[in-house]
Amino acid sequence: MKNIRVLVILLFVVVASTLLLIWSAESVPTPTPWPQQFHSLLFVNYNGSLSLIDLWYDWTNGRNFNIIQDQLGKLLYDLEWNNGTIYRYTLDDKKKCSVAQIDVGVLPPNWLHGAAYLGQELFDGFLCNVWQKVDFVWYYEDVVTKRPVHWIFYTGRSIHVMTFEVGAVLEDAKWQAPVYCFESKQVKDRTASDNSIMAIGSDGFLREFI
Ligand SMILES: *[C@@H]1O[C@H](CO)[C@@H](O)[C@H](O)[C@H]1NC(C)=O
Ligand SMILES: *[C@@H]1O[C@H](CO)[C@@H](O)[C@H](O)[C@H]1NC(C)=O
Repeated sequence: MKNIRVLVILLFVVVASTLLLIWSAESVPTPTPWPQQFHSLLFVNYNGSLSLIDLWYDWTNGRNFNIIQDQLGKLLYDLEWNNGTIYRYTLDDKKKCSVAQIDVGVLPPNWLHGAAYLGQELFDGFLCNVWQKVDFVWYYEDVVTKRPVHWIFYTGRSIHVMTFEVGAVLEDAKWQAPVYCFESKQVKDRTASDNSIMAIGSDGFLREFI
């Protein structure tokens, strides 16, 4: 009687662990959604042209800021609102600003939903899970910490994530575009056919400058 009980337990353990093995082999990793708010320093290489991007992603407040320093070049502010308005300006004496209106807003935190899993790869010294989204971007996420490590656009623009501060928010005053953005009305309508922007299905559109 005791032997039968042991046998039944053993059988159960064997069946359960086999099922677990099958399940883990079949479960494909999915990308971790972006935090609602984060700050990140990005190192960008576009065919040898280098830049640093100070990225302030702020989904909570419907805004996204790329502050772009080209190597030994200009400092460009690229400020995007959820209503599709994008201000691009410098804060130097030239007082240049262009305002664009696109049909979509800030990338949602789950923008990688539905991306195709490509497997694991060592990148920048980190073991990463890799996904591809609509032939537009390849995304590398640290297997252990789940932080983004790298993404690269189909154009070859390559982004290396240098810092990733979850929950960091840029103070409100810094989100105010300069007054000259509102003086000269040079609104250019940018459409989805612009090659720096791509439809990603129900998640909206993806800009090459995230
Ligand atoms: C990349 O840079 C090289 C060297 O400057 C140039 O010959 C090539 O056309 C560039 N490729 C692209 C896609 O811009
Ligand atoms: C979108 O929101 C920004 C920030 O509030 C504002 O400056 C801009 O005028 C708005 N654009 C439109 C088309 O309403």
